[in-house]
Amino acid sequence: MLSEQSAVTVRATLPAVGAAIGEITERFYARLFAAHPELLRDLFNRGNQASGAQRQALAGSIAAFATQLLEHPDRRPDAMLGRIAHKHASLGVAPEQYAVVHEHLFAAIAEVLGEAVTPEVAAAWDEVYWLMANALIAVERRLYEESGSRGLRRWEVVERVPETADVVTFRLRPLDGGPVAAFRAGQYVSVGVALADGARQIRQYSLSGAPGTALRQISVKRVHGGTAPDGEVSNHLHARVAAGDVLDLSEPYGDLVLGDAEDGPLLLASAGIGVTPMVAMLASLAADGHRAPVTVVHGDRSPADHALRTDHEAYTAKLPDASAHFFYERAAEPGTRTGLVDLSGIAVHPGTRAYLCGPLPFMRAVRTQLMRKGVAAADIHYEVFGPDLWLAKG
Ligand SMILES: Cc1cc2nc3c(=O)[nH]c(=O)nc-3n(C[C@H](O)[C@H](O)[C@H](O)COP(=O)(O)OP(=O)(O)OC[C@H]3O[C@@H](n4cnc5c(N)ncnc54)[C@H](O)[C@@H]3O)c2cc1C
Ligand code: HEM
Repeated sequence: MLSEQSAVTVRATLPAVGAAIGEITERFYARLFAAHPELLRDLFNRGNQASGAQRQALAGSIAAFATQLLEHPDRRPDAMLGRIAHKHASLGVAPEQYAVVHEHLFAAIAEVLGEAVTPEVAAAWDEVYWLMANALIAVERRLYEESGSRGLRRWEVVERVPETADVVTFRLRPLDGGPVAAFRAGQYVSVGVALADGARQIRQYSLSGAPGTALRQISVKRVHGGTAPDGEVSNHLHARVAAGDVLDLSEPYGDLVLGDAEDGPLLLASAGIGVTPMVAMLASLAADGHRAPVTVVHGDRSPADHALRTDHEAYTAKLPDASAHFFYERAAEPGTRTGLVDLSGIAVHPGTRAYLCGPLPFMRAVRTQLMRKGVAAADIHYEVFGPDLWLAKG
C-alpha cells in the first residue's frame, strides 16, 4: 500500500505523468538501449520497438498500477501483475534488472517533466515503482521455482510439418534428453533464435499439442510485412529451421489456462493462428473427460488457411457435448459459414466461461456479442498474440 504522503503526491501528479507517458516511454527506451544495447539485441522485441507496438505497455502499466493504488488501495491488480510476470518469466527477466529499468525510467521522467519532479514527487513515484517491481519480482520468483529454471534451454526439432501455406508446426525434444515438464493447455513458450546479424530475438509461441505428450509442439504463422518489414523470427523459423536443428525454448508460461475444475459450459473462440491454444485446450478437455457443453468457434480467411483444422475437429468430436462453428471469409464449405465470426445463431449456455484468442478486433467483437448474450465480463478470458495493450486499460 502507498504511504499517505505519497498517495497525495501521486494523485496530484498522475495527470501530468499520464499526459506525458508517450514522451517518457520514448526517452526511457532510448536511454535504456543506449546504455545496454544487448537488451535490444537479445531480450526486447526489436520489431515491436521499431513499429512502436509495445512501447507504451511498460510505462502505461505503471500508470495503471498507480491509479489502482489510489482507487482501490486494498486490492492488488493480480490479473495485470500475473500477465506481465508470466511474460517476463518466459523471457528470463532477473530481479537485478529492475534497478536498471528504474534508473532509465526515472531519468526519462525527470528529463520530460523537468522541474515538476521535485524530490518529493520523485520519492512518491519511486514508491509506486518499487511496489510494482517487488510484486512482479515475487510472482516471477515463484514461477521460476515452480518451473525449476530461468532462461532458455536447448531443444532439437524432431519434426517439421507444414499445416497451411503460411503455418508450419515444429515438434521438439530436449537436446539434453532431460524431462519435459507438464504444461497447462493455453500456455506458451518463448523461443529464441540467432539471426544473421548476430542478434538473438525471442518470441512467444503457444503450445499447440496435447498436454502430457513427450514432445513440445508449436505452430508458427509466417508474418508478411506488406509495406513494413516481414516478421523476423517467424520467417526465420519458416525459412531456416528443419528437423535436426536446435532452438532455444523457455519452460511453459502464460495465464490463459483452463480453470482447475472446469466442469461448466465453455466457449472457445479463435481466429487465424489464435487456434493454437484452443487446440491444446480441447485436447486437455477430451483427455479429462469433460462432459459439460463446449462451443467451439473459429474464423479464418478460408478452409485452406485454417491451421490445425484436423486436430480442431478431432478433439471437438471426442467431447460428448460439443459443437464446432467455423466461419470462412471465402470458399466456405457445406457445414461451415461464410463471413466473419457471428454468434447470433449460436446458443451460449448459462454460466459459460469463454476463452478467446485472435486479433484484437476479432476479440473485441466476440466479447461484445458474448456480453450481450449474458456472459459475465469476469468469465471472458483472452490471449493477445502481441503486446497486450488492453492490459493497462484493465
Ligand atoms: C502469448 C503469445 C502467444 C503466441 N502464440 C503464437 C502462436 O502460437 N503461433 C504464432 O504464429 N504466433 C504466436 N504469437 C506471435 C509471435 O510471438 C510473434 O509475435 C509472431 O511470430 C511475429 O514475430 P516476428 O518476429 O515474425 O515478427 P516481428 O519481427 O516481431 O514483427 C512484428 C510486426 O512488426 C512489424 N514491423 C517490424 N519492423 C517494423 C518497422 N521497422 N516498422 C513498422 N513495422 C515493423 C512487422 O511487419 C510485423 O507486422 C504469440 C504471441 C504471444 C505474445
Ligand atoms: C516495474 C517494472 C516493469 C514493468 C511495470 C513492466 C511491464 C511490462 C509490460 C506491461 C509488458 C507487456 C506485457 C504483455 O504485453 O503481455 C512487459 C514486457 C516486457 N518486459 Fe517488462 N516491465 C518491467 C520491468 C522489466 C524489466 C526489469 C525487464 C528486463 C530488463 C523487462 C523486460 C520486458 C520484455 C523483454 C518484455 C517483452 C516485450 C518485448 O519483447 O518487446 N521488463 N513489461
